[in-house]
Amino acid sequence: MKQGSKIFVFMTAGIAALAGLLFGYDTGVISGAILFIKDQFKLTSSVVETVVSAVLVGAVIGAAFSGAITDRFGRKKVLIITALLFAIGAIGASLAANVGGIIAFRFIIGVAIGVASYTAPLYISEISPPEMRGALVSLNQLMITCGIVVSYLVDYALSVGSNEWRWMFALGAIPAIILVIGMVFLSESPRWLVSRSMTAEARTVLARVIPQDKIEEEMRSIQGSLTTKKGLWKELLQPWIRPALVVGIALAFFQQMTGINTIIYYAPTIFEFAGFESHKVAILATVGVGVVNVLMTVVAIWFIDRLGRKPLLYIGMTGMAISLGLIGLAFNMPSMTGALKTVTVLSVIFYIASFAISLGPIFWLMIAEIYPLNVRGRAMSLATVANWGFNAIVASTFLTLTEKLGKAGTFWFYAVICAIGIAFCYFYVPETKGHSLEEIEEHLRKNKGLRSLGVTEAK
Ligand code: BGC
Repeated sequence: MKQGSKIFVFMTAGIAALAGLLFGYDTGVISGAILFIKDQFKLTSSVVETVVSAVLVGAVIGAAFSGAITDRFGRKKVLIITALLFAIGAIGASLAANVGGIIAFRFIIGVAIGVASYTAPLYISEISPPEMRGALVSLNQLMITCGIVVSYLVDYALSVGSNEWRWMFALGAIPAIILVIGMVFLSESPRWLVSRSMTAEARTVLARVIPQDKIEEEMRSIQGSLTTKKGLWKELLQPWIRPALVVGIALAFFQQMTGINTIIYYAPTIFEFAGFESHKVAILATVGVGVVNVLMTVVAIWFIDRLGRKPLLYIGMTGMAISLGLIGLAFNMPSMTGALKTVTVLSVIFYIASFAISLGPIFWLMIAEIYPLNVRGRAMSLATVANWGFNAIVASTFLTLTEKLGKAGTFWFYAVICAIGIAFCYFYVPETKGHSLEEIEEHLRKNKGLRSLGVTEAK
């Protein structure tokens, strides 16, 4: 690949992935901000829950409504509008006079997160050459993890006065404004342009990404994938698309129901369960978890187009199942000794590292790869809605589960789901490494079983 093209795709993916940074920042920031908001407005637990979950509700709705919008108005315009929503939400929440205002603006941020969480990977996958697609799309996940760490650090640094929560929210406007400005200069996705019959524009964008002599072939292949009628919701149920639909929703289920956000949202609580009495140590350990999440996502990006998606899923999910089992085991002991505390902390770190090389990036990558072009927007948004829906279920049931099943039982429950997930990957998930999006679609159309993609035609 020419140097110029490489710079172009990296710049494009990097700017679009700022949406991931906002996703991470705005989901992470609440963990610290809520402590102060709760005190300032004297909130009851149920209002606290509403403030925290406003983002999740917004995200489900944002993801649900914007699949069609992305197909209709294009990836670029939608990302610009989303970035504006992020900025409005951040500034609005920071200036809110009462808790109602905070809830309303956090809901707007949630809508932006819901839209961004699938538009960014979708857009990046459509401008990437196949041999770099895994790494470039996973830049988005890397930015999510960076956003989470930055939010933990900001919360930590600003935990000094009672009104500083306003700054915690307001700082989210900075990347949002950079995203608006950056996106204005980027090109629209060539695949979307072809779908709107803007072939001249599509050729111009492709010329920046692939060699001149490959452009016509690529155009034909994109046009070929558009021969069927424009995708409607009911087309998602056609027998040849169904396997991809199942894989997307199931991966959303396994990404969330194996407990990742109990760690992301409740890590300090878990460390306190484990007997760390000081808030400070618990928060510091949480920052450590965030940093491991970032570093291991870098490792994933390195391996994802080399080893492939499925080996990473097997390795990572096995690590997750083992560490969840160990966390459960430590909680099952009659009392937490010093050694057990160490086991818990190491298991949590091992868990996050395993997630970061597998289900973290690979869910978002796969849902940007496996759907046919004419229904891609809708299908991805469905998988994204499922992801946010499962996220909300886990977040709202974690504390109750620990009461009903016990702490050990809860983590073992997640471990069992993880083990089922490994079997699911073996039987149903395809290896998409090295295949162009059109090849993946072609394979799906032949109805030979999605899983055989990487097995019979691996390159
Ligand atoms: C998940 C989020 C999670 C984050 C943690 C993402 O892939 O969708 O729910 O908080 O990873 O890194």
